Amino acid sequence: MNPLQFSRHRRLRTSEAMRSMVRETKLQKEDLIYPLFIAEGENIRQEVSSMPGVFNLSLDLLGEELDEIVSLGIPAIILFGVPADKDAEGTGAYHDHGIVQEATRLAKERHPELLVIADTCLCEYTDHGHCGVIEGGKILNDPSLDLLARTAVSQAKAGADIIAPSNMMDGFVSVIRHALDEAGFEDVPVMSYAVKYASAYYGPFREAAGSSPQFGDRKTYQMDPANRLEAIREAKSDIEEGADMLIVKPSLAYMDIMREVKDFSGLPLVAYNVSGEYAMIKAAAQNGWVDEERIVMETLTGMKRAGADMIITYFAKDAVRYMEGN
Ligand code: PBG
Ligand code: ZN
Repeated sequence: MNPLQFSRHRRLRTSEAMRSMVRETKLQKEDLIYPLFIAEGENIRQEVSSMPGVFNLSLDLLGEELDEIVSLGIPAIILFGVPADKDAEGTGAYHDHGIVQEATRLAKERHPELLVIADTCLCEYTDHGHCGVIEGGKILNDPSLDLLARTAVSQAKAGADIIAPSNMMDGFVSVIRHALDEAGFEDVPVMSYAVKYASAYYGPFREAAGSSPQFGDRKTYQMDPANRLEAIREAKSDIEEGADMLIVKPSLAYMDIMREVKDFSGLPLVAYNVSGEYAMIKAAAQNGWVDEERIVMETLTGMKRAGADMIITYFAKDAVRYMEGN
């Protein structure tokens, strides 16, 4: 008997087998969702300069990319469109032959088992780069809802398995749920970007999607990074409106919010490990300042520990390779 009274925590850390047996959080490839930027045009495989390893891909090159994703065992992709033309109403978002609709059809035909998640927003398709329609320099809420509902329905018609609205207009879940039901898609779930902050971490994404606002910023619809209680209100209203899963975005500066939303909602929770978070790790790793594999696995594990069931991450393919030791 040890005469001193202290705990021997190190007993459970003596070998990898021991550590693995008592490990509380396990990252698995089934948790991962890989984002893809689909560009209108041909033979496009353009690397995003602020996101090494991430590409704008045209439809003719998408098939091979999907084969790789499926062969790695990644269960889901989320699609973003990079259209050739934009206009004030973002018509490319809800065109039945829009770029995301076509990519969805291609993906479902080639790999029916791969889950296709459609991001439902207007900013990639509007010439002003905002997520709703504009009048007198203001982003209008209710007139935007109709366009978002049309977008969701056209995405579901193209075969999207999950609708993920990211626009942050009030009432978007309600309107989209209603429109999906009316169109006969009552079985298509809504993964709501319920808690989305107005964040500087989206910078590289906006380069990839060419979706920077042409005037002002997104602070009148995305949330103030300083607010916690408001996140609860946002999540609550989305649940009441019919959301099936909730996204918290970004991830790294918002792990406290993730934990809280998970605990009170009990719904499947998604962490969005956003573009700026990816870019920071890539930049440091390329400089040899951090060990990329270890940093990536630690970061993604931290998100799961914070309450995320799924993670949307540009590191999805890398993470699977790390898990499988190659
Ligand atoms: C569209 C949308 C954005 C992201 C996902 N959907 C950009 C934005 O709101 O400006 C960001 C994703 C990322 O940074 O990786 N509304
Ligand atoms: Zn948007």
